[in-house]
Amino acid sequence: MYSLPELEAVRTFDAIGVLTSGGDAPAMNAAIRAVVRTALNIGIKVYGIHRGYSGLITDDMRRMSSSSVSNIIQRGGTILKSDRCEAFKEAPTRRRAAEILKQNGIQALVAIGGDGTLTGAHLFTEESGIPVVGLPGSIDNDIYGTDDSIGFDTAVNTAIGAIDRIRDTALSHERLFLVEVMGRNSGFIATQVGIACGAEMILIPEHPTVVESIGYTLVSNRKAGRGSSGIIVVAEGPEPGLTGRLADQLRFFGEEARVCILGHIQRGGSPTGHDRVLASCMGITAVNYLLADYSDIMIGSDGRQLMPVPLQDVIKYRKHDPRLYKIALQLHK
Ligand code: F6P
Repeated sequence: MYSLPELEAVRTFDAIGVLTSGGDAPAMNAAIRAVVRTALNIGIKVYGIHRGYSGLITDDMRRMSSSSVSNIIQRGGTILKSDRCEAFKEAPTRRRAAEILKQNGIQALVAIGGDGTLTGAHLFTEESGIPVVGLPGSIDNDIYGTDDSIGFDTAVNTAIGAIDRIRDTALSHERLFLVEVMGRNSGFIATQVGIACGAEMILIPEHPTVVESIGYTLVSNRKAGRGSSGIIVVAEGPEPGLTGRLADQLRFFGEEARVCILGHIQRGGSPTGHDRVLASCMGITAVNYLLADYSDIMIGSDGRQLMPVPLQDVIKYRKHDPRLYKIALQLHK
C-alpha cells in the first residue's frame, strides 16, 4: 500500500497531455488510465499523444475519454504507442513541440518512460515553461530517485518463469545455461532474477567479472562434485552479443554452455498486480503534483511512499545499489 502525498490544488488546467516514450514497459497502460481518469474527474481535458515525443512534434494526438482507457489495465504494451525520438534531442524540435501543444490548448504534460524520456521532459519544461511531471516507466529499474519503476516487477517475474523452465531441462541434461536478461547499463533485472531463480552466478555491468574467474569457478565447482548443471544469469550489457562471446570463451575451460536470450519477451505481457497498483498510484500523483503547481519533477517511490524528485537529479545521477548483489553473492555455493 502506497501513501500518496497530501497536496493542495492551487491551479487548474483546461487540458493536459500524456505520452509514453522509449522502451515500453508493462503497466504503462495502468499509468495512462490513472492520469486520464484523475484529470477527467476534476474537469480537465486529456489528450493522448501517440508515439511519445514523435507524436508531439507531428501533432499526432487525440482527446481521451474515461471509456478510452477502459479494459487496458491488464494489457501489456502501451495503447499510446512508443518511440525513441532522436529529433527531440534538438532544441528547435522541442520549440516546435511547445508550439504544437499551445496550438492544441494543452497546458501541461505527463511523460512516462525511462532515462531518455525524462531527459527530454526536463529540457522541454526548462525551455518552454510548460509544466511537466515524469513517471518512471522502464523494465530496467535503473532510474535514479526511485526504488521501483513501472514494469520492473512484471519483467522480473516473466524472466523467472522462463528460467524455471530452463532449469528443468538444465537438470535433465546436466547442462550449463547462460541466460541473458535485459539491462544495457544496469544489472537490476539480472540480480533480482538471479536471486529468485537460485542462479549459480550473476553477471552484471556494475561488477565486471573477467572470463578467467568465471571459468576457474566453474571448473573448480565441477572438480568438487558441484555443478553438473547450472544457470548463469547475464545482464545484456552495452555491447550486443556478450553472452554468445562468453559461451565461446568458456569452451577454453572445457565448459559447454547453452545460450538463451530472453530479450523482448521481458517487455511484454500482462502486468503484475504490483506494477498495476504502482502505476495507478503514480498516475494519480502526477496529476496532483501538476495541480499543486509542481513541474520538472519525477514521481519516485521508496516502496511505501511516493515523492517528487527533481528531474535535474534524476538525469544527473546514476542509480547504483549494491545491496542486492551482495545478498546474491552470499547465496552462491
Ligand atoms: O530500456 C529498456 C530496454 O528494454 C533495455 O533493457 C534494452 O537494452 C533496450 O530497452 C532495448 O531497446 P529496443 O527495444 O529499442 O531495442
